[in-house]
Amino acid sequence: MKIKNVEMVMSAVSKAQYPSEGLPQIAFVGRSNVGKSSLINTLLGRRKIARVSQTPGKTRTINFYEVNKEFYFTDLPGYGYAKLSKQEKSGWGQIMDEYFIHSRDLKHVFVLVDIRHTPKPEDVSMVDYVRYYNIPLSIIATKADKLTRSNQMRAIQDISKTLKVSKEDIFMISSLKKTGQEEVLEEVEKILAEQKE
Ligand code: GTP
Ligand code: MG
Repeated sequence: MKIKNVEMVMSAVSKAQYPSEGLPQIAFVGRSNVGKSSLINTLLGRRKIARVSQTPGKTRTINFYEVNKEFYFTDLPGYGYAKLSKQEKSGWGQIMDEYFIHSRDLKHVFVLVDIRHTPKPEDVSMVDYVRYYNIPLSIIATKADKLTRSNQMRAIQDISKTLKVSKEDIFMISSLKKTGQEEVLEEVEKILAEQKE
C-alpha cells in the first residue's frame, strides 16, 4: 500500500467529534506505552504525526488519522497504567464503550502487546471486549528488536496461547528497526478490499 496522504483530523473526546463521512476505520489499542503511536507513525511513514508519549497513560482522546482520503487509523487511549486514579480508569472505559458502541465504521482492531511479556489479564480482557463487539481483530507484538530471533518465536507462541489467537493472526513489528510494517499494511489492504466486496 502506498501512503499518499495523511491527515490528523480529530482528537476526539466524545462521539460528536468522530468523523462522519462513513470511511472505514481501523483501530489500534493496547497497554499504555506498548508502542501504538510509534507504530502509527511507522506505518504512515511520518516521524511525528502521532505523538509518542512522554507521560504514559495520559492520552485520553481518540485520535483519527485520515489516510489517502480512503480510511482512518484510530489511535485509542492506552490501558493498564498503574498510576491512574479510579476516576481516570472509569473515564477510559467510558471513552472505549462510546467508541465501540457508535462506530459502525470500525472494521478491524489491532491489539498491541509488548513481545517481551506474556499478555496480562487486561490484554485478555481487551481481546474479549473486541470479540464481544464482533469486530475482527489481530494482534501486533511490538518492540521485536528487544528479543533475539529464537526468543521472538517463543514469545509469539506464548501470545498465541494466552490470547487464543492463531499464529497467522499475530504480526511482529519493531518501530525502532522499522521491521514488520509491510505485513501490517498488507493486512490493512486486505481489510479494505473486503469492505468493497
Ligand atoms: P500511550 O499513548 O501512553 O498509550 O503509549 P503508546 O502505546 O502510544 O506508546 P508510544 O508509541 O508512545 O511508545 C512508548 C515508548 O516505547 C516510547 O519511548 C517509544 O520510543 C518506545 N517504543 C515504541 N515502539 C518501539 C519499538 O518498536 N522498539 C523499541 N525498542 N521501543 C519502542
Ligand atoms: Mg500513544
